[in-house]
Amino acid sequence: MEAKEYIEKVKEIVKNKELKYHILTMGCQLNENDSEKISGMLTQMGYIQTDTVEEADLLLYNTCCVRENAEEKLFGKIGEVKKQKEQKGTIIAIGGCMMQEKHIVEKIKQSYPYVDIVFGTHTLHKLPEDIYKILNERKRIEDILHIDGEVIEGLPIKRNDNIRASVTIMNGCNNFCSYCIVPYVRGRERSRNPKNILEEIQELAKKGYKEITLLGQNVNSYMRSERENGKIAELEYKGINSFATLLRAVNEIDGIENIKFISPHPKDFTDDVIEAIRDCKKVCKLIHLPLQSGSTQVLKFMNRKYTKEQYLELVNKIKSTIPEVVFSTDIIVGFPGETEEDFEDTLDVVRKVKFEQMFMFIYSRRVGTPGDRMENQIPEEVKHTRFNKLKQLAEEQIAKRNQEYIGTIQKVLVEGTSKNNENMLTGRTYSNKVVVFEADKSLIGKIVPIEILSEHMWYLKGKIK
Ligand code: 5AD
Ligand code: SF4
Repeated sequence: MEAKEYIEKVKEIVKNKELKYHILTMGCQLNENDSEKISGMLTQMGYIQTDTVEEADLLLYNTCCVRENAEEKLFGKIGEVKKQKEQKGTIIAIGGCMMQEKHIVEKIKQSYPYVDIVFGTHTLHKLPEDIYKILNERKRIEDILHIDGEVIEGLPIKRNDNIRASVTIMNGCNNFCSYCIVPYVRGRERSRNPKNILEEIQELAKKGYKEITLLGQNVNSYMRSERENGKIAELEYKGINSFATLLRAVNEIDGIENIKFISPHPKDFTDDVIEAIRDCKKVCKLIHLPLQSGSTQVLKFMNRKYTKEQYLELVNKIKSTIPEVVFSTDIIVGFPGETEEDFEDTLDVVRKVKFEQMFMFIYSRRVGTPGDRMENQIPEEVKHTRFNKLKQLAEEQIAKRNQEYIGTIQKVLVEGTSKNNENMLTGRTYSNKVVVFEADKSLIGKIVPIEILSEHMWYLKGKIK
């Protein structure tokens, strides 16, 4: 039986009961996007969304396992809702990446036996069936596939925003960076059919969405595995057979004004992708290019397959092809074997590239990854000292860069009213800077010119031009 049929069956059971659900999403935008699909299915089943845990009849945790803390956080949360479960029989479902790790599922089984449903990253579409069974039989369900699930199309989706939307274009990762758990929990790369992607985006454009973010663990290797294993002909659609051709096709969709994508891998940043970004007016000229480390030696330990010099050459090549480009990045400090000299190399790249935005992480050991088995782990204090040094450099650079915005006129996609002040609107520049300004609410969803007047570290203030 298909998801749709189970959705109908659950709908029958929960009818007129006004049951509520609450989702807590951890981690990246791919998880956010999965949660929107979960929300879509639950809404069709007749459940109503609530922001409060206490009100919920169905509590759902969509987990992440990329870095630590998430585990303690999750166990803390499940511990807290035990009483609620006993008092009102709230259904507790836990899904996402962490559930693909055997030791975590074991721990839940032993220490939190009142959890009803445990589901993985390949079994999202089976959630309606799992919920139906819980409502009917009240027996604990574990629905996890340890092999690669196929890409399931056509799940309903309830989006969190009505201007910006993300669209998953591929699942999984083949790169096995040695710090990273993702390839073990999300499986091998599988690209979605270009036809389905375009139809989804056309539909979004019709509904008034202006900005699309294409998502994948390694977006710029879209359709690569299919090309390598000879399946490209089955998937190719109207000449779309790569990430570059997909970008060009999305750029043609009327109504969509901004196109973003995360995350690409520097090693797969081919010339056709650079040229597509240059040629496509709607593709954002802020490129997220995860560096991870600036040291060639550490990059080798990390299995990143590029050197410091190759990364810098790539940045220069992109800059010379697209003069207005700016970059954001991810950096890990304290990977096993990282010396002071290696860390200096990271600072050196940061100084050279002058990133617009930096996401900085302290290396966190992940069970099952090669990094965890390496002997030369870095002491916590050293990791923290390096992290603080990097953070300080990042903040200095961002403050300096912000200064350069003052007096310029920026095209800003207006997102809504400011959280702190109802009378102000907020939006973002193409370089993802938050801009706050006074204007009429009718501008929400439009792209407007804003003169930047002042900078405040995490946002800019401006006025309508
Ligand atoms: N420790 C710290 N940071 C990590 N990331 C991935 N795995 C780890 C880890 N084990 C970071 C990388 C990646 C981002 C999403 O999370 O920088 O690009
Ligand atoms: Fe993890 Fe590397 Fe794959 Fe990104 S490319 S998901 S960091 S293994």
